[in-house]
Amino acid sequence: MRVLGIETSCDETGVAIYDSEKGLMAHAVHSQTALHAEFGGVVPELASRDHVRKTLPMIRGVLAQAELGVDGIDALAYTAGPGLVGALLVGTAVGRSLAWAWGVPSIGVHHMEGHLLAPMLEEEGPDFPFVALLVSGGHTQLVEVQAVGHYRMLGESVDDAAGEAFDKTAKMMGLPYPGGAELARLAMEGDPSRFRFPRPMTDRPGLDFSFSGLKTFALNTYRTESKSVSDASQPQLKADIARAFEDAVVDTLMIKCRRAVRETGFKTLVLAGGVSANRRLRARIKEIMENEGGKAFYPRAEFCTDNGAMIAYAGWQRLRAGQADGLTFGARPRWPMDSLPHI
Ligand code: KG4
Ligand code: ZN
Repeated sequence: MRVLGIETSCDETGVAIYDSEKGLMAHAVHSQTALHAEFGGVVPELASRDHVRKTLPMIRGVLAQAELGVDGIDALAYTAGPGLVGALLVGTAVGRSLAWAWGVPSIGVHHMEGHLLAPMLEEEGPDFPFVALLVSGGHTQLVEVQAVGHYRMLGESVDDAAGEAFDKTAKMMGLPYPGGAELARLAMEGDPSRFRFPRPMTDRPGLDFSFSGLKTFALNTYRTESKSVSDASQPQLKADIARAFEDAVVDTLMIKCRRAVRETGFKTLVLAGGVSANRRLRARIKEIMENEGGKAFYPRAEFCTDNGAMIAYAGWQRLRAGQADGLTFGARPRWPMDSLPHI
């Protein structure tokens, strides 16, 4: 089965074609970073309008890349939630309409399920069951995964998501939007011994997270220290704060992952979502899983952040089990992942 996947939940338009025999045949991602940069964050209305402009030309583009006509597509999958309602409506409307016009089935995919299954696009993907750490701009979740759709939430953020905390800390130090990756780059030049930030909620039992206090800790450190260092030393101060912040987030995530793996007894951990592109996080998770006698899996860097390939793949998993949407479609800005149907 060949599935065309469409992702428009936030500020990336992603389109891809996944073939169940050949694997990924084509994919394209358009990032709206330049569009939102001057506002310092995503402007929902601009995001929706840009998806309207990009989605159809990108679908033509991936069909050409894969050397397929529309008759080469057996089904469509589109992100139906969670995300920005206007942005989601573009992908769902285009996807559902094309499926109707082409006379093929279609399915609305849960964005976080897309992230969660993305490591399976790799040649050596994880086997069920596993523990998944989903870390994106909107979510930080530890999930027990028995199979596609069999999800039990083990823990999640009670306030800011890890990616959101990265972005806000970056913005507070004047780094360009989107700040997370920029902050990670800066952290590479930071001295890890200058500051030590707290590891929130690690001194008590449980698997929930809280990153909002850490962001405030970084802000206070920056405000206090920037007054007492020369202009020439400001860049180093920012790098050192970036490093202390990154170390604290990575350590906190690592401690909770180890706890989740020990509690479930699972030997496989999947890391996914935008923040899983973070190199230090990938290295630390790999290391702790080796120490636990298990293994960590994550997507290649380009499939950590939002993309159409993960939506095509997750859609295929459900379509092949016989699931499909009716003619009505809708966006689900809020959509608990543990309410998804089993397959
Ligand atoms: O999954 P994603 O593309 O979109 C959402 O579903 O939210 O994740 C985007 C998030 C942003 O918060 C971004 O700052 C963060 O992932 N991110 C990173 C890195 N690359 C992207 N955070 C830390 N280190 C990175 N290298
Ligand atoms: Zn995402």
